[in-house]
Amino acid sequence: MGMRRSLFQILLWLLPAEVAHNLRMSLLGFVGKLPTGKWWLKVCHAPATEGLEREVFGVHFRNPIGVGAGFDPNGDRLTELASSGFGFVEIGSVVPRPQPGTPRPRLRRIRTADSLIDNSGYPSRGLEHILQNVRKRNKHTQNIVIGCNIGHLTASHIEDTVKEYLRVFRNMYQYVDFFVVNICCNTSSKRFEPRSRDAILELIEPLFEFRRGQLDYRPILLKISPDLTQEEVDTVIDILIETPLDGIEAVAGSLKMGQEYGGAITGAMLTERAIEMVRYIAERSEHNYPIIGSGGMMQPKDVERMMEAGASLVALNTGLRENGFRLLKKASRAVVESENREK
Ligand SMILES: Cc1cc2nc3c(=O)[nH]c(=O)nc-3n(C[C@H](O)[C@H](O)[C@H](O)COP(=O)(O)O)c2cc1C
Repeated sequence: MGMRRSLFQILLWLLPAEVAHNLRMSLLGFVGKLPTGKWWLKVCHAPATEGLEREVFGVHFRNPIGVGAGFDPNGDRLTELASSGFGFVEIGSVVPRPQPGTPRPRLRRIRTADSLIDNSGYPSRGLEHILQNVRKRNKHTQNIVIGCNIGHLTASHIEDTVKEYLRVFRNMYQYVDFFVVNICCNTSSKRFEPRSRDAILELIEPLFEFRRGQLDYRPILLKISPDLTQEEVDTVIDILIETPLDGIEAVAGSLKMGQEYGGAITGAMLTERAIEMVRYIAERSEHNYPIIGSGGMMQPKDVERMMEAGASLVALNTGLRENGFRLLKKASRAVVESENREK
């Protein structure tokens, strides 16, 4: 079940990848402001919700298919993405202060492989700006789940990272529905990827501690790299089983695959590795924990396979950029059909 690109998408495809994305997001904002714009977004993109609704880590999702981190990093288009019918939006990576990211061009296409080379370096308008966006939930954003992906501030010292993750967590706590702790924040100049049990626990234990004192419960997930060794994946699964961690998001872009290109590979080159990792984690944790499947979800079939492999939710990024929002409706239909077949 392949997908044909719309005329608009073909036009975007002719532009450099980051220019195309910014154009899409500006246009989305423009349409959202028109009197019937939000209705129009719904009519064009939103799938029927029948058979899609589900409860994952105690949160109600109208649709298991959402937008992954880096697509709307500052939460500037939450209303429009909600109107378009996505089940959730993972904003971020959120960092405590604004940072520009890597100088452009920092996002390139491998056209022949339907993939991107991402070297964007987590550009962000910073915590204050993002807080403004999540504080003003309206009737449109009421029924979309918002996740907050926490990332590493490139300019800061590694020793300060634990404090900074906690700072973002505390500030965002009452405004979002779940958290994703990103443990693979790599830029061309700096790597932040705690892989040992101790390093990961050092980062997440303060978050558990803060949560213990709160009235409302916010699930915490770890987002992992596809480049982890088998042993490192096992370490993450052990942490999942032995601590109050709620789930895992697998996977981020691959630096290993992108070595010769100077960035992280996202898109179709990642599909098989992402599905294989989700299947492994689901089996080893006996399907007891929610997994967000991410990586190379380009076609409806990819999303269907990801869910069959054990993902409870699927986060789209490169697939939306390169194939357009029609992927949402088509993938939703594929998921419903596949679940109906299993019944
Ligand atoms: C331009 C771009 C920016 C991204 N920024 C972030 C980010 O800030 N934080 C994060 O956790 N992942 C980020 N990602 C990774 C995606 O969320 C996703 O995990 C990865 O791209 C694999 O999925 P995909 O193949 O569907 O794109 C970014 C990806 C791209 C292409």
